[in-house]
Amino acid sequence: MSSQATTTAPAGPPRAIPELAENFTWGVATSSYQIEGATDVDGRTPSIWDTFCRVPGAVVNADNGDTACDHYRLMPEDVRLIADLGVDSYRFSLAWPRIQPGGKGPINPKGIAFYDRLVDTLLERGLTPWATLYHWDLPQELEDAGGWPERDTAYRFAEYAEMTYEALGDRVTNWTTLNEPWCSAMLGYHEGIHAPGRKNFGDALHAVHHLLLGHGLAAQRIRAKATNELNLGIVLNLGHGSAATESELDKEAARRSDALGTRLYLDALVHGRYPEDLLAELPSHGIALPVLDGDLETISAPLDLLGVNYYSSHQFSGTDERGGTRDADGHPVVRPVPFGLPRTAMDWEIVPSGLTKLLLRIQRDYGVPTVVTENGAAFDDRVAEDGSVPDADRTSYLARHLAAVAEARAGGADVRGYFAWSLFDNFEWAEGYAKRFGIVRVDYDSQRRTVKDSGAWYRDTVRLTRGG
Ligand code: FCB
Repeated sequence: MSSQATTTAPAGPPRAIPELAENFTWGVATSSYQIEGATDVDGRTPSIWDTFCRVPGAVVNADNGDTACDHYRLMPEDVRLIADLGVDSYRFSLAWPRIQPGGKGPINPKGIAFYDRLVDTLLERGLTPWATLYHWDLPQELEDAGGWPERDTAYRFAEYAEMTYEALGDRVTNWTTLNEPWCSAMLGYHEGIHAPGRKNFGDALHAVHHLLLGHGLAAQRIRAKATNELNLGIVLNLGHGSAATESELDKEAARRSDALGTRLYLDALVHGRYPEDLLAELPSHGIALPVLDGDLETISAPLDLLGVNYYSSHQFSGTDERGGTRDADGHPVVRPVPFGLPRTAMDWEIVPSGLTKLLLRIQRDYGVPTVVTENGAAFDDRVAEDGSVPDADRTSYLARHLAAVAEARAGGADVRGYFAWSLFDNFEWAEGYAKRFGIVRVDYDSQRRTVKDSGAWYRDTVRLTRGG
């Protein structure tokens, strides 16, 4: 597959998007480890990402989050920049090893103080905070004790969530528990390409259950403490899957992918059950989910919102390139087949129509209000001689996906907001700093921020849509 980004049609000048004018939150998003740096100050202990970055070959260029965007230090200026973009909300995540070093014991006053200042600074500038409790930076000590495949990690998470909510809940009403548990479990414990780098499918499925349980327990604790308004949910990475052809084999492949990527999470969270078809297949992998009595009730307590992170969609074939139907382990083949569409620098196909279909499907099958908590694209940006960043590819990506959200809304999906990923170029996990997702460029040598053309386009689109 080519890693070449292909240019799509230019977006045209910013204009109002009438379908997104009312009751709609506009924001930008980041996460702690990807931007903060300052990994060894004010009592913070290492997270699994600090450790993973030191594994030779784990991260492109041997990059790490030690400095990242230096946001821990530059926070006040960064918040000013967010306000200048004219958005109303900022989605960020809280670093567990700052707030509760080692993942156990009392709150760390210096660690929580940073988020306290961040929240106050946002509010002073008229920005609404959207806090994510966990965006992948598990305290290393908890991984040493077994990590997410261990049930105890779910209880630890609930404790951390409660102490964090107690500290900030008087000012923060929008909370999500986990960011993309699929990535934590599958990339971290099965594929081994994200921290902690384990490769065991059984561990990954145990991790899924304990992540979801952690969400449910945290939600219980937060709701019990809440005295003011609360908008509480979870963030999933989702796409719209389809069968590559009408063949039964391809339809089966699409069903399998949907079970493991979507229904495993949403059926549990919304309907309080794991998908029957997946449960029936797990014994062939020698796996049983570690579900105890009452877990699914805990997991399926009502959600105020579902955060949807959308980047691409896939169609699936049940045969490999040579027509075989079983993989090396004897399991049925589930092979993504390219649509032949332009791709981003991540090699992800650009499929805006998948976002419309996904949002309508969530409305139909699950009936929960959604917020697009991440959407955006990496491209190999070029800095022009005048210092500007003419990233027409990214602008086009944003424009087409916003149009897709508008279409879903017009079709009856209860979508309540959109957050561009990302505010900044930042530490893109295993890709290090090589992949740039920002609508604001970061020069990592000088830490200078430059609003890219896409950032200016987004700012004008928000203004025009909100009637400014
Ligand atoms: C999502 C992550 C986010 C970022 C984008 C590109 O899966 O939540 O941190 O890496 O992908």
